[in-house]
Amino acid sequence: MKIGILISGRGSNMTAIIEAVQSGKIPKAEVSVVISDKTSAEGLEKAKARSVETVVVTRKQRSREEHDAEIIAELRRHDVELVCLAGYMRLLSSDFVRAFPEKIVNIHPSLLPAFPGLDAQRQAIEYGVKISGCTVHFVDDELDHGAIILQKSVEVDDADTAESLSAKILEYEHSLYVEALQKIAGGNYKIIGRRVVL
Ligand code: GRF
Repeated sequence: MKIGILISGRGSNMTAIIEAVQSGKIPKAEVSVVISDKTSAEGLEKAKARSVETVVVTRKQRSREEHDAEIIAELRRHDVELVCLAGYMRLLSSDFVRAFPEKIVNIHPSLLPAFPGLDAQRQAIEYGVKISGCTVHFVDDELDHGAIILQKSVEVDDADTAESLSAKILEYEHSLYVEALQKIAGGNYKIIGRRVVL
C-alpha cells in the first residue's frame, strides 16, 4: 500500500507514520511522498531525514480546486493508494475526496463529533469537558466529519490548559494513527453506512 502524507507544519504524526512503516509495523506499506502546502513546514526536513521524497504545492492565489488538482496529480505520479492527512490545515475540495474514495484518513485532537475545526483542545478546555481525546477518521466533504475508525479518550484535569491538553492528546495521537493504518493496511474492515467495522 503506497501512502502519501499531507502536512502543513510540525509533522509529528507524519514522523510516527514514517517510522512505523520503515520499522515494519505497518506491513506491506510504503510512504511514497510527503506533500506540504507550506514551504516553511518543519515536517519537510523530518521527512527528508528519513529518506522520504517531499513536494511543496503552495496555493499561489489559486482556487481550492486548482490547488487540489496539482496535489492529486502529485499523488497519482507517486501511485499513492492511501492519503493520510497529518496536520494538513486546508479543507479538501469535493474533487479531492472523490479522487480517493474512502482512501483519505485524518487525525483530529478531540472525540468527534465534539469540537471539530481549529483549536479543538482549546474548545474542549473552554467548554469544560472532563474527557477529551483523539479520533482517526475517513475524510468526507464536511470538516472533521467522516466515518470514525478509532478513538482514544484522555482525561482533562482541572489544571490543564489548551497547551498541556494538546501535549497529552498528542502522545496518544501517534500510536492511534499507526494502529488505524495497521488495520487499513490489513484490509480487514468494512464501512457500513457511517460505521467502520474493524
Ligand atoms: C495534531 O494535533 C493533529 O491532530 C491535528 O493537527 C496536529 C498536527 O500535529 N490535525 P503534527 O503536525 O502531526 O505534529
